[in-house]
Amino acid sequence: DVPSLYEVYQQHFHIGAAVNPVTLKSQKELLIKHFNSLTAENEMKFESLQPEEGVFTFDNADNLIAFAKQHEKNVRGHTLVWHNQTPDWVFTNKDGSLVDRDTLLERMKTHISTVMERYKGDIYCWDVVNEVIADKGQQLLRDSKWTEIIGEDFIDKAFEFAHNADPNAALFYNDYNESDPLKCEKIITMIKGLVDRGVPIHGVGLQAHWNIYSPTLDNIRKAIERYASLGLQLHITEMDVSVFDHEDKRTDLIAPTEEMLQRQTERYDSMFQLFREYSDVITSVTFWGGADDYTWLNDFPVRGRKNWPFLFNENHQPKSSFWKVID
Ligand code: G3I
Repeated sequence: DVPSLYEVYQQHFHIGAAVNPVTLKSQKELLIKHFNSLTAENEMKFESLQPEEGVFTFDNADNLIAFAKQHEKNVRGHTLVWHNQTPDWVFTNKDGSLVDRDTLLERMKTHISTVMERYKGDIYCWDVVNEVIADKGQQLLRDSKWTEIIGEDFIDKAFEFAHNADPNAALFYNDYNESDPLKCEKIITMIKGLVDRGVPIHGVGLQAHWNIYSPTLDNIRKAIERYASLGLQLHITEMDVSVFDHEDKRTDLIAPTEEMLQRQTERYDSMFQLFREYSDVITSVTFWGGADDYTWLNDFPVRGRKNWPFLFNENHQPKSSFWKVID
């Protein structure tokens, strides 16, 4: 019989999956059996919850919360302040000009407090700010309307608004390419600043969009050590292990090769050994999907190109990676 993934791991950390309105139905049995934490793939982002000023659309998010309550699942809130999937109205006046700093701060505060107060007690932690660190070069923060209009302290403000809205919620900063040594140091610099200024932040989300070749286990370990040195909780928040590396744009496969599955199994095995080793600081491991029948990677970086990144195949059956991780 197939053991429950989260029951095997519950003495270490939560096991989570990102869900959307389709997979919440199509993967229902798998989610109930193997995961004790859920994240909305898109339904709790700014554009999904407040598509127009003052017009809040909570149905999809409420459905996820109802499912989580019924099946006693933890819920990670994703995400309140991000440069992506945020409606244009947030940054513009009626005449199309950019709003000023105070107006944008007011709109940020209204969004954060309305959303977090609604889900107070239902959502135990939030990715308050997502992906603000510039990927390339010396610049610390990526260019965005948040930085341009408010300035660099928009990050401090987001966490302060979040803490005032729900003082019991654990507040996270979340980012990708988090194991790249240079980006890791930039994330550390930014978070150290928040901690030094007494900004209420409780955790760091490592998205872990990895593949069967990179990043090296050594870089992942070094990054975990660096983030752990901040004294905050760590969550693995969006894990998938693509069978293609960044440069591989081939589109001819209709199934993963045996060699790909073998490498993927070895990668999952070594990654979960590492997570178990650091389970005093890693308190949640969430996959960015439940099984290979749906992944955002089918459209990234090559639109329409199938990928098979998870522990369960397209029929929700355990792959060799699952058995290795269970061992
Ligand atoms: O909702 C519209 C729909 O009305 C329209 O018909 C359709 C056709 O284009 O697009 C739909 O919006 C799509 C949206 O997902 C909801 O399905 C967008 O095109 C599509 O770009 C968007 O992709 C999401 C992506 O974030 C956008 O940035 C992925 O599903 C989601 O998995 C991905 O998740 C992000 C995390 O939030 C942050 N970390 C990176 C991760 C991967 O990019």
